[in-house]
Amino acid sequence: MSTFWSWYVSVLTIGTLLALLWLVFATRKGEKKGTTDQTMGHAFDGIEEYDNPLPKWWFMLFIGTIIFAVAYLALYPGLGNWKGVLPGYEGGWTQVKQWQKEVDKADAQYGPIYAKYAAMPIAEVAKDEQALKMGGRLFSTYCSICHGSDAKGAVGFPNLSDSNWRWGGEPDTIKTTILHGRMAIMPAWGSIIGDDGVKNVSAYVRSSLAGLPLPEGSNADLQAGQTIFNSNCMACHGPQGKGMPMMGAPDLTHPAGWIYGSSLAQLQQTIRYGRNGQMPAQDAYLGNDKVHLLAAYVFSLSQQASQAPAAE
Ligand code: HEC
Ligand code: HEC
Repeated sequence: MSTFWSWYVSVLTIGTLLALLWLVFATRKGEKKGTTDQTMGHAFDGIEEYDNPLPKWWFMLFIGTIIFAVAYLALYPGLGNWKGVLPGYEGGWTQVKQWQKEVDKADAQYGPIYAKYAAMPIAEVAKDEQALKMGGRLFSTYCSICHGSDAKGAVGFPNLSDSNWRWGGEPDTIKTTILHGRMAIMPAWGSIIGDDGVKNVSAYVRSSLAGLPLPEGSNADLQAGQTIFNSNCMACHGPQGKGMPMMGAPDLTHPAGWIYGSSLAQLQQTIRYGRNGQMPAQDAYLGNDKVHLLAAYVFSLSQQASQAPAAE
């Protein structure tokens, strides 16, 4: 703020406070000359105004607010460029400093616990009840908006509680995914293989690879679909369509792990226009230790899933 505006704000604020103070005292004096001791001496339609002083508690309330204002303006930055002298805030209070203080406090409190777990292998941490509780809380805060509070995902967001993985389900791979994020590139095929090509290869994926029934009267050419698949899709989805974790290309023989839907219309949409799912990197934001706990939590969910009877 320029010096002019700083003074402008300060003078206006202090001036207003002084004026209010004056007003409170000036109107407290009571009777004016030439009035009765009862009323102000004027009447509107026979209604008169009593000339009583402000009740004491009310008066004190006004004084209290003015004292509050003065204290506030001294402690916090309110008057132009004045930074305030709130104890514990070198150079004046700001929201950022207050937030940083809270973060530092939490780090000091929980940092050693995080560090303890960060030094253990993820698979070990995944067996520790306290660690899983902490991981679960972190997950609710940072991950559930996309993956759901039960980690079961949604359209476009993978289920993390099952044993289907796009990028791999080894503990360290999960950690890498969370730490550095992932960017999936499924190209758009519409202009390359044409409408018929999209229809045929979609039908091939749905019926021959995933083993799902085709709608009655489907006249897709599965043979042609297979040819397209072999020449265009195998490079990423693998020779048997079983996926390639290095590229995040999902297993197309396992529709339970798909995130964009398995109906013919949805498959055609995916294949015609492509998909670019993005898992945002968390290293700069959450840091290694928290991600370590999160990886353990996610890994534990998939372990529970693989121990439970397969549901498909
Ligand atoms: C360059 C590598 C690459 C090629 C080539 C490729 N895909 Fe993909 N495909 C991917 C990736 C990566 C994903 C995951 C996209 C995402 O998660 O957003 C994907 C996703 C899909 C999905 C969606 C699965 C789901 O989770 O819903 C289908 C279906 C699919 N591909 C079919 C095909 C077909 C058919 C072809 C050939 C015409 C093909 N892909 C070629 C990389 C590829
Ligand atoms: C903005 C939405 C978003 C948020 C927030 C988010 N994710 Fe993701 N995540 C995604 C998407 C989208 C994918 C799938 C990327 C792809 O298409 O391959 C993904 C993929 C993943 C995968 C890989 C799954 C697999 O099958 O390989 C893991 C693990 C994961 N997320 C964990 C997390 C954790 C833990 C958090 C919380 C720190 C989190 N995600 C927060 C959107 C999100």
